[in-house]
Amino acid sequence: MIFWTFLLFAACGLANIVLPPHNGPPRLKYSVVPGFFKQSDLATDDRTYDAFRDSFGLADPSPHRWYRFRQNILALNAHAPEGVRYVVLYLARHGQGQHNVAERFFGPEAWECYWAMKGTNGTYTWGPDAKLSPQGHSEVARTSKAWKYEVPYGVPLPESHHVSPLSRSLSTLVETWKPVALNPPRPVCNELLRETLSLHYSDKRSKASYLRETYPEVEFPIEEEDSLWNFHRESEIGRNMRIKHVLDEILNKDLNTYIAMTSHSGVINSTLVALGHRPYALQTAGVLPVVVKVERDPKWKGEVFWRKKERWEVPKAEMRSVCPGYEPVLVSGQYVHGMGVWPYS
Ligand SMILES: *[C@@H]1O[C@H](CO)[C@@H](O)[C@H](O)[C@H]1NC(C)=O
Ligand SMILES: *[C@@H]1O[C@H](CO)[C@@H](O)[C@H](O)[C@H]1NC(C)=O
Repeated sequence: MIFWTFLLFAACGLANIVLPPHNGPPRLKYSVVPGFFKQSDLATDDRTYDAFRDSFGLADPSPHRWYRFRQNILALNAHAPEGVRYVVLYLARHGQGQHNVAERFFGPEAWECYWAMKGTNGTYTWGPDAKLSPQGHSEVARTSKAWKYEVPYGVPLPESHHVSPLSRSLSTLVETWKPVALNPPRPVCNELLRETLSLHYSDKRSKASYLRETYPEVEFPIEEEDSLWNFHRESEIGRNMRIKHVLDEILNKDLNTYIAMTSHSGVINSTLVALGHRPYALQTAGVLPVVVKVERDPKWKGEVFWRKKERWEVPKAEMRSVCPGYEPVLVSGQYVHGMGVWPYS
């Protein structure tokens, strides 16, 4: 209960945020079905494995591989007992962003303690809403080619797309799928698929009107202004809870079998935690397919998650040093040495 409470507590000051309902989605239980993709096997080294040269990691190398795969998934679903279904999640990470370039340039400490809260050093810009770097665009082109290459072998294309509201993920989605197949389905942006909530200026999203204009392929059921940025730095536990919530929300509503989610390393990490998948660090613009057993029990109730509470105010923005010895930066949320400071984490 405590974790729901802290998210609720932390979320309540988010001025005017209208996130749906007061009861969370019915809870689902997830597990990974091993054997289909090499990435779910601990023997695969995520630091060196290049799934794009290996049919996204599909263990079956035959020319009929994807047809057999579809049949297997179909059979799993046909024989699934009441309340159980099998889905294939394609977890995609955005290509290299401007903030990734800047972080590498400044180093982790100076980045976390100072530069991440700025948007530019005068010659290079990474915020707000970091865009793909030139390298990021070419990484995404490679991802798109990898999909195209598998099409003649019958790779099941996503039947639906869910995407983070940050530009680097939106561009990744559109640039990956436009040359292959995007319409239908129409991707849906989900506010909660964004990267770890933080004070990082690169993680402040653009206004919804700008996003609608820039990515006309995507649906944006979100508020105009970003109320989740610079409130508190989210801990890993907090992020795991948020992503479990959003997975439940998506998989309760989306009854497709092949579902793509384009997001961020932190979101993918928490997704894997929720699924019980082995640790897997995905490179930028990487794709990680996972066969997932989804169980639903009508007795499992959704928990209260987001609720507005009048008294909890978003702290005022002020100049403050976030690490000892570093120049002050303009922040409102709390940030302690790169660690999470959600009230209950
Ligand atoms: C600004 O940052 C970029 C990369 O983040 C770097 O290449 C450039 O040299 C920096 N400029 C200055 C003036 O430090
Ligand atoms: C998620 O990230 C944490 C911290 O970096 C790491 O210890 C953990 O193994 C990761 N989990 C997965 C499933 O990738």
